[in-house]
Amino acid sequence: MKNSMLELKNVTRSLGKWNLGPIDISFLQRQITVLIGPSGCGKSTLLRLMTGLLWPDSGMVTFVSKPITLETVQSIRLKMGYVIQDGGLFPHLRAGENVSIMARHLGWDKMRINQRLNELLDLVKLNPDFMGRYPAELSGGQRQRVSLMRALMLDPEILLLDEPLGALDPMIRSDLQHELLRIFHDLKKTVIMVTHDLSEAAYFADTIVLIADGKIVLSGTYGDLLENHQDSFVSRFINAQRQPTETLTRSTA
Ligand SMILES: Nc1ncnc2c1ncn2[C@@H]1O[C@H](COP(=O)(O)OP(=O)(O)OP(=O)(O)O)[C@@H](O)[C@H]1O
Ligand SMILES: [Mg+2]
Repeated sequence: MKNSMLELKNVTRSLGKWNLGPIDISFLQRQITVLIGPSGCGKSTLLRLMTGLLWPDSGMVTFVSKPITLETVQSIRLKMGYVIQDGGLFPHLRAGENVSIMARHLGWDKMRINQRLNELLDLVKLNPDFMGRYPAELSGGQRQRVSLMRALMLDPEILLLDEPLGALDPMIRSDLQHELLRIFHDLKKTVIMVTHDLSEAAYFADTIVLIADGKIVLSGTYGDLLENHQDSFVSRFINAQRQPTETLTRSTA
């Protein structure tokens, strides 16, 4: 039986008039969990609650059974690699400076930083020359790789990725999907990843968590999701994901 890495117990949070929860969920060690659901359903809010960037109104978030509190949040955050939606690279820092910012803050020496940078460049298959460029001088796919390197710099125990492949063209997206899954398997880390895309969720996930309007509708395998057509939201969500291709096929036939 695998142990829980991160757990949300009865978590609620209001943002203006919108309410999230109550959410109960446990993320198991070395599992890949994908959070999926329509825009505005609360995926990014959930990640912010898990990383201690947002506090629950009630309930508790625990990391390896330790509650995330004002006292523990800083040390726990160092064990989490987080890629926010759109990457969040600092535009005024070069890629290498973006990746190493926390390590420098923690006082790592130059040699250790360079050694780790080289390991990560190998892992994400990026040319070292790109480390001297500003984010605006990189392609979308290159920026995603740099964001991932930054999240991995301190060798975190868990990776939280908010739409890491969003806004990429389909071919680059497909290449990066394969790369990312290889990286997850090589690193053997616990991964929580957000996506809009059902086929991407099916490709990555050990467990898919479907969210609607701040609540978990279903948590299970891709097969569980497909079998749950009796739930009207699940079947509407699945059909909505299929529609674009069918529409395209009809209009070009
Ligand atoms: N700071 C805020 N103040 C008020 N409402 C907010 C705030 N941040 C988010 N919300 C609302 O909370 C809800 C959930 O937002 P969230 O960003 O978690 O959605 P999401 O599932 O990540 O959407 P997307 O797929 O578009 O990224 C939305 O209705 C959003 O408008
Ligand atoms: Mg979001």
